[in-house]
Amino acid sequence: MARIGRRTAAIGTAFALAFAAGGTAIAANVSSEDQALAPTRQPAAKTIEQRVNRLLARMTTQEKLQQVQLLSDGQVTDADAKAGVGSVFSLVDAEQINHLQHVAVEQSRLHIPILFAYDTIHGYRTIFPVPLGAASSFDPAVGRTDAAVGAKESAIQGLKQVYSPMVDVSHEPRWGRIVEGAGEDPYLGSVFAAARVKGTQGTDYSARNKVVASVKHYVGYGQPEGGRDYNTTDMSEQRLRNLYLPPFKAAIDAGADTVMCSFNSLNGVPGCANKYTETDILKKEWGFDGFIESDYTAVAELRACPPVKPDEGPCGHGIAADGPDAGAAALMAGTDSEMVSTYLRDYGKELLSDGKISITRLNDAVKRILRVKFRAGLFEHPYVDVEKASNAASYGKPADLAKARWAAGRSMVLLKNEGEALPLDTTKSTALIGPFGQTVDEMLGPWSGRGSDELAPKFVTLLDGLKAASSAPVTYTAACNLAHNFDPPNNAVPPLTPDDEVCAGPGEDGTSIQDAVNAANDADQVVLALGESGFMSGESNARSQLDLPGYQEDLLKAVAATGKPVVVVLFNGRPLDLTGVVDKPAAILEAWFPGTEGGNAVADVLYGKVNPGGKLPVTFPRGVGTVPTYYNHEPSGRPCDPTFKWNSRYRDLPTCEPLFSFGYGLSYTSFDISKPALSKTKVGRNGSVTVSMNVKNTGDRAGDEVVQLYIHDPVASLSQPVRRLRGFERVTLDAGESTKVTFTLDKSDFGFYDNRGKFVVEPGEIQVFGGDSSAATETASFTVK
Ligand code: BGC
Repeated sequence: MARIGRRTAAIGTAFALAFAAGGTAIAANVSSEDQALAPTRQPAAKTIEQRVNRLLARMTTQEKLQQVQLLSDGQVTDADAKAGVGSVFSLVDAEQINHLQHVAVEQSRLHIPILFAYDTIHGYRTIFPVPLGAASSFDPAVGRTDAAVGAKESAIQGLKQVYSPMVDVSHEPRWGRIVEGAGEDPYLGSVFAAARVKGTQGTDYSARNKVVASVKHYVGYGQPEGGRDYNTTDMSEQRLRNLYLPPFKAAIDAGADTVMCSFNSLNGVPGCANKYTETDILKKEWGFDGFIESDYTAVAELRACPPVKPDEGPCGHGIAADGPDAGAAALMAGTDSEMVSTYLRDYGKELLSDGKISITRLNDAVKRILRVKFRAGLFEHPYVDVEKASNAASYGKPADLAKARWAAGRSMVLLKNEGEALPLDTTKSTALIGPFGQTVDEMLGPWSGRGSDELAPKFVTLLDGLKAASSAPVTYTAACNLAHNFDPPNNAVPPLTPDDEVCAGPGEDGTSIQDAVNAANDADQVVLALGESGFMSGESNARSQLDLPGYQEDLLKAVAATGKPVVVVLFNGRPLDLTGVVDKPAAILEAWFPGTEGGNAVADVLYGKVNPGGKLPVTFPRGVGTVPTYYNHEPSGRPCDPTFKWNSRYRDLPTCEPLFSFGYGLSYTSFDISKPALSKTKVGRNGSVTVSMNVKNTGDRAGDEVVQLYIHDPVASLSQPVRRLRGFERVTLDAGESTKVTFTLDKSDFGFYDNRGKFVVEPGEIQVFGGDSSAATETASFTVK
């Protein structure tokens, strides 16, 4: 079976050859366990600063230029290690890591260890649900646990930095990378960003089971025009600060010591050459003293493309005439480490003598990199235990698999459950139908580290999971195929259209729609596994359509026509357009790409061992033409009203509502949430107000509810979003049980950034909405004096 681990050596080698040739207060409103995640940024320890300065004083210019170099696994050689290269990424062979580290530590003049990095996004070998799924749990413990297991397994391999968390807020379901983040909301994104950083780094990332986190992609990468990856972003200052920067700030406050600048340009300035965002905001305003590495070939991409300057390799932004100029632009804007391209290393001396870069800035970049290496304990423990790293038993420990299963269960969202079709009965026969019943890629999803069907731990398919959970027979009919040739060699464009990727022909078992209908007729209950292939999600996988590809809707229609209650389980990495789907099945469970234990976790939910309690971290639109659609939009002078023409609406849609709102999700039980009660109705600008809601399980089984708190400022100097999430708590209640949930709101909640980048707290009314989704209607209000 194909692996989705994504591009590995292929791209690295291609570019390497080309270059060789050419040269806040967010913790306030989450559970008490996560209070511990409150910002803890410490001033740099004196002894570390002394060591950094002493080492810097001994470095030659060329050694400094080596230190700011970050090479891929396909590029790095012994000579680089000996010359004192700073960092290496994507190398996952412990013996090679150890070998290069020995060369660096023993044969380079200053014995500075190399920092080895990897994209551990939702697991290294034990794969957790994709981050968009994890965010659906509305439980930061899920993000923290995933990051902690990922850090531990990465560290066993000899890695000391992960390019995670990805905290790009996105309103763009067409964008494939929406799968890597926490969705459309800056508050939810901030809570998850902080939790993941804490899970990755702990309180001290020199610990042997911890690694340093790199927050990415700084900044605005989640909002590319048209949803096309790498494309331009253009936005107002207030949007940048209110929507896109907060998760980065939360990650930095939680201690993240590295940041990756992004490919996209923001208001005309590419992410890795943006002095305003890199130096002015991140380093000066926020006090970040770690380092910024460029994304892949982002420095090279600053160059103009031929014919302006004929050259090899990536180019495009056109803010630099050639490679050396690009290196200078990046360094002087605040980028400290150059990934893949080698302009600073190769031309740095000339750039210094030409005055294009300054020694002060170069020294600063080197100090930042050394600071992180000292904090990481690399000088004390540079080597990896190769035997342990090479032993399959070191990964996927039973306790970690249990965590992955728990996380996946908590991440699933029940979108529909008519006639209590779910949970299924374990004593009745089940027909599993659809192309996702036995695949690995749709369990693991994109950026799945080194999770695979070849390496331990073994992943669990949906069919295996259902069989293990049911005491009655489970049959499987693929009904149609799933193409797995979407990681073509040499980065070629896939030769097929999306409709060819899923359900374009008979299943691998030779079955068709008619076989599926027969299987459904023969069984007591039907599970239809539908969605997108894992290859349709992730980097460079933008889609222009958001519906189920291929003839999946026809398959659903035919199976539903049997009259059996049909349960659809969705595997996907983005909000889909389910308008053609939603009416046909009795139940729909959004499973995302659930990870190594995916099959078991889905079975847990389908058969009722786990009661689903996840909520959508993204809006599900009605048709791709309505994109972007998101809950926290600004109001309009002509708010949408389907009954009146001269309004902000679509003439071909009878409603203003999306198909499923942000924060929406059902349970096998029911809940009642009381109107929000405020501790006071007037509050000073620097004061705070508490908001309480009682939540009661009114059904007959235990379950989870996510109590959500939104606010709106109806009269402000800048038109304010119609709702903004400012608190949530996931509670578990027995049948009949109730509890009180309390949130605290202060100026960090009711204030906002204006278009000059200033945080303002304005007097006036603040409306409060409480409930079980962004459509919450229970209100209260207070006045800021
Ligand atoms: C991606 C980053 C990733 C880097 C290194 C880039 O193409 O945009 O997210 O960390 O590659 O693998």
